[in-house]
Amino acid sequence: MKQTQPHILVIFGASGDLTKRKLIPAVYNLHQKDLLGHPFAILGVSRTEMNDKEFREKMREFLPNDDSTSDFISHLHYQPIQTAEKSDYPKLSDRINQLKDKLGVPANIVFYLSTPPSLYHVIPEYLNSVGLNTEDDGFKRLIIEKPFGSNLETAKELNKDLLKYFKEHQLYRIDHYLGKETVQNLMVLRFSNSLWEPLWNHKYIDHIQITSAESLGVESRGGYYDDSGAMKDMLQNHLLQLVAMVAMEPPTIIDADAIRNEMLKVFQSLRPLKRESLNETLVRGQYTASHIKGEPAKGYREEKGVDPDSRTETFVAMKLHIDNWRWAGIPFYIRTGKKMPTRATEIVINFRPTPHHLFDTMDISLTKPNQLIIRIQPDEGLLLKMGLKEPGAGFNVQPVDLRFHYSDLSDAYVPTAYERLLLDCIQGDATLYARGDNVEQAWEFVQPILDEWAENPDFPLHGYPAGTWGPHESEKLIAKEVNGWRYPCKNLANDGKYCEL
Ligand code: BG6
Repeated sequence: MKQTQPHILVIFGASGDLTKRKLIPAVYNLHQKDLLGHPFAILGVSRTEMNDKEFREKMREFLPNDDSTSDFISHLHYQPIQTAEKSDYPKLSDRINQLKDKLGVPANIVFYLSTPPSLYHVIPEYLNSVGLNTEDDGFKRLIIEKPFGSNLETAKELNKDLLKYFKEHQLYRIDHYLGKETVQNLMVLRFSNSLWEPLWNHKYIDHIQITSAESLGVESRGGYYDDSGAMKDMLQNHLLQLVAMVAMEPPTIIDADAIRNEMLKVFQSLRPLKRESLNETLVRGQYTASHIKGEPAKGYREEKGVDPDSRTETFVAMKLHIDNWRWAGIPFYIRTGKKMPTRATEIVINFRPTPHHLFDTMDISLTKPNQLIIRIQPDEGLLLKMGLKEPGAGFNVQPVDLRFHYSDLSDAYVPTAYERLLLDCIQGDATLYARGDNVEQAWEFVQPILDEWAENPDFPLHGYPAGTWGPHESEKLIAKEVNGWRYPCKNLANDGKYCEL
């Protein structure tokens, strides 16, 4: 196991929701498992005036109420500064020096920017102004959350600005999907079993589906979401990362650059979607008012913070191709949406049917080609669908499931994405973080779509009632495939359009 060096974790935006809901609980769990190294300190930074004591009390909200929490809480500190004012940064640097001296912590620092993205351009510069980016006296790493730009141009600008003050090896761009245990398992499933790799190509796979469905709507994030939409919020990052994990070649070694080089090649091989025929390869939708389980459900345009005439998409489905040796001619269908009938993310590998139907008595509707379902969440696991003989006379083929559930590994602790990613960064492992060139390449693919939507007001935005699987048009997109979309349910083994409603 890698060693964790003594360090200080500086969280910008420490008075915000993400800090108390996700980051502090993640660090707490790492502390409980004794993974943080000694000594360590956490320094919360934001504009809100607070002292250490007040900050500690605020952070308790999402932590268990016991003795171990009090011990953990004693590692928390707080420094108010005007994060957008360069002149305030000496205060930060003084406070870090005091902490270093008092606790005997070296100058190993992880800066976590849990701030509005506009500050991604200034905080690195101001850290540079007080020498908090140099690694002469210890590592300095900078974690940033998506969005990494809002289009190709701003993504490039952001990378350029970050690289003025930090080197690429100091930058950790979080895509929390890569931190999910089940997403990492994809690599292990593929590359530690001799069973799959020979089949993992255009010769044996018919098509691949990736679905990331959410039952929630935009909740309290209407203001942010209305400027973003499903394409920028989910597809450009999380879904394309999943595509890359499924499609990449085996890396030469398990190392951040080797893996991210392979992922980059997938992004580079994505066939650009043609603007003139975009309507045939992409469907966008927006949820409309309806009833879910008998209760009225708001339409997107009625959500708080959303423009009542908004044309922002809350659903997007797309057919894409990867033009390389392995995937020539194989369609990938990907879709994501809010206010769907359930919350489920899964990858469905649809294998080709047998070349010859030997058992001609078999009911064609029962003899679905083999499917391997890799469930990312919830009910994490694997499901392999195959045909076996029905007991008794004749050769009737019956579909059966081979299943594995992560929950069966009852003694294995599954860390949350934030735990895994924070620890990796503290230990200097960027494998599960997005590299700048990967992010730009993913934007390169998405940009023509954004341009078409911006420049062609007639591009259809289909309504779909909240609580359904998106516009009918998304079914047409996949109509050529015998079984269409798989509609996942909460339980891995089940499928069907409305199992949760
Ligand atoms: C975030 C998006 O990146 O991912 C949210 O901004 C979305 O809109 C969330 O709800 C989904 O993450 P998860 O882990 O719940 O699938």
